[in-house]
Amino acid sequence: MKAKHIIKRLSAYLAPYRIRFIEALLCMVVVAAVKSGRVYLLKPGLDKLIESKNVNLIVIFSAALIVLTLIHAVVTYIQNYLLAYIGQRVIIDVRNETYSHMQNLSLDYYLKRTTGALLSRLTNDMMYVQNAITTVPVKVIRDGLSCVGLLIVLFALNWKWTLASLIFFPLVMFPIKFFARKMRKTSRQTQEKMAGIYALLAEKLSGIKVTKAFAREKREMKKMEESNWDYFNVIMRLLRAETLQRPILEIITYTISVVIAAYVINSIFRETVSVGTAVAYLAALINFYAPIKNLADLNKDLQSSLSASERIFRVLDAEITVKEKPDAKNFTGLKDKISFENVSFSYSGEKDDVMAVKNITAQIRKGTTFALVGPSGGGKTTIVNLIPRFFDPTEGRITIDGVDLRDFKLDCLRRSVGIVSQDIMLFRDSIRNNIAYGADKATDEDLVRAAKMANAYDFIMDMPCGFDTVIGERGATLSGGQAQRICIARAVIMDPPILIFDEATSSLDTESEMQIQKALDAIQAGRTTIVIAHRLSTVRRADNIAVISSGEIVETGRHDELLAKNGHYSRLYNIQFKIQ
Ligand SMILES: Nc1ncnc2c1ncn2[C@@H]1O[C@H](COP(=O)(O)OP(=O)(O)OP(=O)(O)O)[C@@H](O)[C@H]1O
Ligand SMILES: [Mg+2]
Repeated sequence: MKAKHIIKRLSAYLAPYRIRFIEALLCMVVVAAVKSGRVYLLKPGLDKLIESKNVNLIVIFSAALIVLTLIHAVVTYIQNYLLAYIGQRVIIDVRNETYSHMQNLSLDYYLKRTTGALLSRLTNDMMYVQNAITTVPVKVIRDGLSCVGLLIVLFALNWKWTLASLIFFPLVMFPIKFFARKMRKTSRQTQEKMAGIYALLAEKLSGIKVTKAFAREKREMKKMEESNWDYFNVIMRLLRAETLQRPILEIITYTISVVIAAYVINSIFRETVSVGTAVAYLAALINFYAPIKNLADLNKDLQSSLSASERIFRVLDAEITVKEKPDAKNFTGLKDKISFENVSFSYSGEKDDVMAVKNITAQIRKGTTFALVGPSGGGKTTIVNLIPRFFDPTEGRITIDGVDLRDFKLDCLRRSVGIVSQDIMLFRDSIRNNIAYGADKATDEDLVRAAKMANAYDFIMDMPCGFDTVIGERGATLSGGQAQRICIARAVIMDPPILIFDEATSSLDTESEMQIQKALDAIQAGRTTIVIAHRLSTVRRADNIAVISSGEIVETGRHDELLAKNGHYSRLYNIQFKIQ
């Protein structure tokens, strides 16, 4: 993205606060004017004072200077307050917009990115943008205006001196340009390194159990240390440039000022100028360099906020791949069947890439149980993920009662599909809120009914606070089987017409598995259910079984039909039977 586009886009966020922003701009104009005026006043003031030798005039003159300084202070305060306000408000807007876009982004986006990188967009990068909004306008406008104002004063006081001293100007501009180039590069790098640290932190802290299990704490510490040192090396390059720039500019500007001052004082001796003019001129000169030094920092602020904004905009521009059509229909429930029509899917979305699922054609009739079995990595989870449109087929289509899934309203469709997925995802919240996650209007009776259906009621009641017991992130304070039963309760509380169980019984003991199986039988009654199971005992009663291997359906039929075929299914079944 070009800097111009980024700035244009950023300023669009300022639009809602334009009145406040204009007020801040006015304050900046006042500050610059007061600064220049205060200096210019010195000339007539001092000349008159010296001429009249009037003590009263000294008081009036001093009071005028103090009043101007007070105005300067108050207006600066208002300006800074307004800018801080605008900066924080804009950040709320940008952060809300980014987060809401993240919520809407399809799952494929998250498969390619780390949580840490996204976290750093919402925190670290936002900080840079906010900093830019509060500091860049001040530097450009207020300090720019101050420079211009003071230059006018300098010309007005003595244009010959000013013109002559302009030959020193390149001496000031040279280091500014030199350091700007240096800082531009490094400020971008520091942010990227910091984003890397965020990514590492988020990943490793969420995987702390694995680290501990393999006693890899030392190695993880080392990795973090390396990242920290990497960051240190880059930021020190930036800070070296930053800290060196000021003193170098100080030396140059001070030397120039001294040379000019010597000349000016000499002029007083020769009585070619008045004392007032000389003092005012020197004061203006000293004041002139302060905003120039501020302007020198501008480049760094600008660059770091440009690259941070660019990263945020890249998130905002990320395409939502699973889209809802503008004229999408309501999903009013399954009437006849779900059909897979020659469905193929690749995780990259490219047609010529490896297909995780190939040419699936199948029908699931209303009220029946459809089972998917087969070797691990065959593509079972991938197939069921297409039904609530976590992903769209790369080729072919899935229809419900003849209507393409892509023609339904997304939330409507997803609410009609209850899913118990293979990986347990629970939030750090009460059991009640976890079960009722998708059902805002759930009553206590619904909750108890769902818990009983999932065979979870008894263990919930045994917990210290029952339904109000707070469980850990991802169900960390529950056993695997308990967590899974909470997930089942969460799926059934919505009473969805279509239910998907992906290995829903895999981490249960034989006893609870049987109970769950009973519950499932009850839940399945009158519902369309898709079950994935490794243990073939759980799919024996399914109306239709598809054996999936390498992304394809290799066999279909009922349990006894498949056994009679003596193919893949009977082979799988015999292996399991022998083990038991
Ligand atoms: N996010 C992903 N990106 C790329 N490939 C993936 C992704 N998820 C799964 N795959 C691949 O897709 C194929 C099918 O995976 P899938 O999870 O559907 O298998 P599965 O039949 O559910 O296996 P299991 O019985 O072990 O759960 C596998 O080869 C896997 O490597
Ligand atoms: Mg799976």
